[in-house]
Amino acid sequence: MRYSHGPDVLHDINLNLSPGSFHFLTGPSGAGKSSLLKLIYLAQNGSKGQVQLFGQDVAHCSRRDKALLRRRIGVVFQEFRLLEHLSVFENIALPLRAAGEKRESYEEDVVELLSWVGLGDAINKNPRTLSGGEKQRVAIARAVVGKPELLIADEPTGNVDPEMGIRLMRLFVELNRLGSTVLIASHDLQLVRASGAPVLTINDGRLSGPKPARRPGRS
Ligand SMILES: Nc1ncnc2c1ncn2[C@@H]1O[C@H](COP(=O)(O)OP(=O)(O)OP(=O)(O)O)[C@@H](O)[C@H]1O
Ligand SMILES: [Mg+2]
Repeated sequence: MRYSHGPDVLHDINLNLSPGSFHFLTGPSGAGKSSLLKLIYLAQNGSKGQVQLFGQDVAHCSRRDKALLRRRIGVVFQEFRLLEHLSVFENIALPLRAAGEKRESYEEDVVELLSWVGLGDAINKNPRTLSGGEKQRVAIARAVVGKPELLIADEPTGNVDPEMGIRLMRLFVELNRLGSTVLIASHDLQLVRASGAPVLTINDGRLSGPKPARRPGRS
């Protein structure tokens, strides 16, 4: 793929994520991790080749079909993308509201999730007033709250301390246990190794792996 008329930033990508799998994506800054994730969550089109999502070839999807596919994906954006005209609670509830759920059915889940990520007191705050790490935790809560079939997270622990990173990783592992497919881009090699999950690596836009888990189990 390429951005407008720029050079190709990804080359010869061949990747199949089995339903229910858990992978990390690593590689140096600028290698193409976020670009690959954008292809998968349909924020960018490839210049060649094919992208299939949940068994559907996205080239044959209408805009509406793509919007429906996107709703099945939870995304933690590298730059968070919280909506600043909404409270923390409303930001997290957004995917559930979009899915037509009533506030009574999700209010407790949102409150519980917020306290799990250590932000029980921030529920009515405006995201503008939060630190980088706090925003990141809200972005993670928003991505996981609807138990999406596919969870894509771009450097989801880049702004938090190591203990919180481990805690947040448990959310992704739990989501995976419930059946979601998980793909996490991360520079944090310690966290990646500790998880024991298979690792995909990008260098200069070329993908290698997955390398099998270093040790069995992923807890
Ligand atoms: N919006 C954009 N417009 C033009 N070029 C871009 C854009 N986003 C990324 N690129 C280019 O694409 C290449 C891959 O960038 P990408 O953001 O995918 O890297 P990354 O591996 O996620 O890096 P990082 O670890 O710093 O987040 C880089 O050369 C970058 O300059
Ligand atoms: Mg990136």
